[in-house]
Amino acid sequence: MSVTGSYVINSEAEMEDFAKKVAGTVKGGELITLDGELGSGKTFFVGALCEHLGIKRTMICSPTYTIMREIKGHVKIYHWDFYRVKSIDELIAVDFLELLNEKNTVNIIEWASLFKESWENCFPRIEIKIEFGEKDEQRRIRAESKS
Ligand SMILES: Nc1ncnc2c1ncn2[C@@H]1O[C@H](COP(=O)(O)OP(=O)(O)OP(=O)(O)O)[C@@H](O)[C@H]1O
Ligand SMILES: [Mg+2]
Repeated sequence: MSVTGSYVINSEAEMEDFAKKVAGTVKGGELITLDGELGSGKTFFVGALCEHLGIKRTMICSPTYTIMREIKGHVKIYHWDFYRVKSIDELIAVDFLELLNEKNTVNIIEWASLFKESWENCFPRIEIKIEFGEKDEQRRIRAESKS
């Protein structure tokens, strides 16, 4: 099953459903990239996804001040946020590439496109772009699976 496609999300509940669909395709070893403006719902999505992977949502917060947080559930997850990363050297310093290639681990990156060169050759991956819609809780999602 693939999640490739465009989605119009009308509520937080529908974002949960989308996260569940993505979770259904996760086996371990994937990279999930998230892009979208501040407050578009990247961290919300990660919380919902993790819940469907057997992790309590209370453990999910934005890793803003740490670049990466490790979350342990049924699968191991590395949750990254590139928003405050200034150069690729900072990623190299925390062994980004090694962690990305770790077997069975799921890597999720918020603001991934800021350092696209660091991951664009990694497979299998799911690229997710979130845009605000016209209404309050509305979001437009474009998802692509690359293997
Ligand atoms: N359909 C929706 N999907 C996701 N979040 C929604 C939706 N509707 C409203 N929200 C709200 O929008 C906010 C999204 O915040 P969130 O921290 O997930 O954004 P973010 O993209 O991670 O931002 P940042 O770039 O600062 O990390 C939350 O407060 C959430 O409750
Ligand atoms: Mg966030």
